[in-house]
Amino acid sequence: MARLRASRVRRLPTPPSVACHNNTPVALITGAGRGIGRATATRFAQAGFRVAICARTASELRATHKTLAASGGQVFVRRADTGKPSDARALVRAVLKHYGHIDVLINNAGILGPMLQLTRYPLRPWLNVLRINLTGTFVITQEVARAMMRRHRGCIITVSSSVGRAGRAGWGAYAVSKFGVEGLSQVLADELRPFNVCVMTYNPGGTRTKMRAQAFPHEDRSKLKDPSVTAEALLRLTRGASPDHTGHAFDAATLPDSPV
Ligand SMILES: NC(=O)c1ccc[n+]([C@@H]2O[C@H](COP(=O)([O-])OP(=O)(O)OC[C@H]3O[C@@H](n4cnc5c(N)ncnc54)[C@H](OP(=O)(O)O)[C@@H]3O)[C@@H](O)[C@H]2O)c1
Repeated sequence: MARLRASRVRRLPTPPSVACHNNTPVALITGAGRGIGRATATRFAQAGFRVAICARTASELRATHKTLAASGGQVFVRRADTGKPSDARALVRAVLKHYGHIDVLINNAGILGPMLQLTRYPLRPWLNVLRINLTGTFVITQEVARAMMRRHRGCIITVSSSVGRAGRAGWGAYAVSKFGVEGLSQVLADELRPFNVCVMTYNPGGTRTKMRAQAFPHEDRSKLKDPSVTAEALLRLTRGASPDHTGHAFDAATLPDSPV
């Protein structure tokens, strides 16, 4: 089995890098109304990607759209709750219809939920956090991955967290959902290896966003990294995507060198 997989890897037609692709590459970035998602959409558009974005809050989506359009980028905007399977599937289908394909998926949309010990964690927010952070990521990824498999190319990066790699008291369903997306990415990476689709996770570390402020309301925000730093890291990870990187969990310290 191991030998079969190794020979399949050697037969990969091209690395899934999107930088060398003839057509303008397309990136779908979920949760791009603010924070890391907005910064990532902006950076990818500046780098020449055609961008598709979603979020639930229309006013924030409009603001991201305005920024992207002002810089001359091509952008497809759709209001969607990625935690609703019907919204998630319709979003991917609409992007595929609009652009024809998706080269890069950045699974960024997520919520924090209550910061409570598991013994006191209520069921309703538990289900909601898992619905958005884990099941939503699964449904979007499944739809996009099928399209990428048909083209034998693509890159899927899910934004994870340090608490999705080592459990920490008080992080509740959020931490468990991030452990879930790490597992999802590892299984998918193994399944998509023969299809030249690179699947990775990225832990951005403390970044100055609304979610971070919710988790640490009393910290000095000036010491946190700007979302543009994480956006740059995600672009670099995308450009460096290769069969060697699929299945890996990266963070700022382990970011591989980009070939571009
Ligand atoms: N900031 C950090 O320090 C940090 C650290 C580690 C990991 N992360 C991860 O980084 C990602 C982005 O976080 P952030 O800090 O930028 O958070 P944020 O400022 O709260 O932004 C989250 C974005 O996701 C969207 N979103 C949330 N739920 C959604 C849903 N069901 N459907 C569609 N869009 C949805 C939000 O818009 P709507 O609410 O309008 O839908 C918003 O645009 C998350 O996955 C988070 O877990 C962040």
